[in-house]
Amino acid sequence: MQKIKIVGTGSAIPPRIITNLDLEKMVNTSDEWIRERTGISERHIVDEKTATSDLVAESALVALKDAGLEAKDLGAIIVATASPDTAYPPTACWAQKKLNIPGIPAFDISAACTGFLYGLEIASGLVESGGYRNVLVSGAEVMSKIVNWEDRNTCVIFGDGASSVIVDKSDGESGIISSYLGADGTLGELLYQPAGGTRMPASQETIDKKLHTVHMKGTEVFKHAVRAMGGAAIRVLKEANLTSDDISLFIPHQANLRIVDATCRRAGISMDKTHTIIHKYGNVPAASIPLTLDDALRAGRIKRGDLLLFAAFGGGFTWGAMVLKW
Ligand code: UT7
Repeated sequence: MQKIKIVGTGSAIPPRIITNLDLEKMVNTSDEWIRERTGISERHIVDEKTATSDLVAESALVALKDAGLEAKDLGAIIVATASPDTAYPPTACWAQKKLNIPGIPAFDISAACTGFLYGLEIASGLVESGGYRNVLVSGAEVMSKIVNWEDRNTCVIFGDGASSVIVDKSDGESGIISSYLGADGTLGELLYQPAGGTRMPASQETIDKKLHTVHMKGTEVFKHAVRAMGGAAIRVLKEANLTSDDISLFIPHQANLRIVDATCRRAGISMDKTHTIIHKYGNVPAASIPLTLDDALRAGRIKRGDLLLFAAFGGGFTWGAMVLKW
């Protein structure tokens, strides 16, 4: 077991809400279709001035307060995001500037919706074997600035938000009992942002064709997501010598409530033991899991000693799962 514990959590959700009824006025869709096919009722989006690092810094301050710490107590900053402020420097560095704590390492993880689990695994390594204390892991997204608001296949599912956790060493029983991360780059083009990088630099043509926005083959992604999340959950339970009955709460990445439902059926997890936030926040890629964790904590659904199961899937493709003793 990796002996770490999450000593604080905190979220930042932009105040502006876009409801399904608002979307009905923007694209050919309906509140009924979105709710039935995705489970989403509304999502929050940022104003023009707000970037991903603003949400990271805001959520970090809430997590620090929750932990009884100050920004200067942080040992490293890891930001998982699919919607960075800039290609470089990392969003983590922009957030570091806002938190005014130069000196400590700060870097991004690009593993789309699985990024938070990748980040948690790396933070655990830094704490356990690197001697780092109080590592901030933030999942943060401003998807509203990279989706095509004329594409009903994508614009209805994504939302903005960030959530941070602080990882420190554990003197007690809490820690990561089992963890598994995977990826398959051969399927990258099923969910990606084609232009804006070195493969297809921004040009008038890429802008006219909106190639710098999210492109997704939804139905194919859906099938892979269920298989990978279900498989990863089963694998980490087996490695931990546990069954789904031993789990106190399942905290899945939420791209679509039907994916969560199908994953639960595949892995034998009851929906009663699953905490979800997709109805109010939509799919907030790397922020989905920490937002759900924070929401479950504030709803009183988690107590010390509980066994939590996380599972995620996203662009790359990337996927993973983890059993964490709280
Ligand atoms: O977070 C990372 C990973 N991302 C995901 O896991 C997303 C996975 N995919 C999905 O969640 C779903 O595939 C979507 C929500 C994106 C789409 O749902 P679907 O049930 O797979 O719909 P579909 O693409 O198979 O389309 C079914 C019908 C089509 O109409 P026709 O051809 O049957 O007449 C679509 O054109 O629904 C239509 N449609 C819509 N109708 C109203 C697609 N999007 C919409 C929409 N409103 N927003």
